[in-house]
Amino acid sequence: MAPVNPIRVTERAQKLATEILLPGDIAVDGTAGKGRDTACLAQAVGPTGQVHAFDIQPEAIASTRNLLEVAGLLSRVSLHLRSHAELAEVLTAEQRGKIGVAIFNLGYLPGGDASIITQPASTDRALRDAFAHLRPGGRLICVAYTGHPGGPEESDIVLSFAEQQAKAGLHVEKIGYYPTPGKPWILVVNKPSV
Ligand SMILES: C[S@@+](CC[C@H](N)C(=O)[O-])C[C@H]1O[C@@H](n2cnc3c(N)ncnc32)[C@H](O)[C@@H]1O
Repeated sequence: MAPVNPIRVTERAQKLATEILLPGDIAVDGTAGKGRDTACLAQAVGPTGQVHAFDIQPEAIASTRNLLEVAGLLSRVSLHLRSHAELAEVLTAEQRGKIGVAIFNLGYLPGGDASIITQPASTDRALRDAFAHLRPGGRLICVAYTGHPGGPEESDIVLSFAEQQAKAGLHVEKIGYYPTPGKPWILVVNKPSV
């Protein structure tokens, strides 16, 4: 499969999210960063939906809050200054199994401290929990990078998660998966509709 242009990868991931989300949906942004993906999800779920956005850096949560405030979307988003590995803990009883889309954009905060990166163990936990709590027809999207230290190892974890889902008979896409350092790729796993 051809590699994905790194500049376009986030746009592609957002499109994969918005084509699934319905007004009133619950969505998760596992890595809020500058808030662009969170804002995109908040727009798509509409005023009756809700987004849970996670980041471990106060700077990222502050940037995301600022972007949402300016866009008039803050009331649709719960911001969590905690690891995405704890996402199952923030879901209410009504939200469990009701997530329309969970999106992860791994790596480090653009323009921030490049040594603070997502980690294989917490990423693995978060992917599994997010997938477990998708609604029927929901979608998990994960952008993985191989160009920074630690990226290839994390990418392997994402790949192994993908292979396990494929073995379980789920529809898995690895857009641009290409084992060359520096190339991002997107994992998409859909939860079957019932
Ligand atoms: C590539 S950025 C995300 C970009 C973001 N989605 C956007 O639209 O701007 C990756 C983010 O993951 C965050 N991060 C690292 N480890 C994390 C963890 N365990 N839980 C949640 N966020 C984490 C980093 O602080 C960083 O802000």
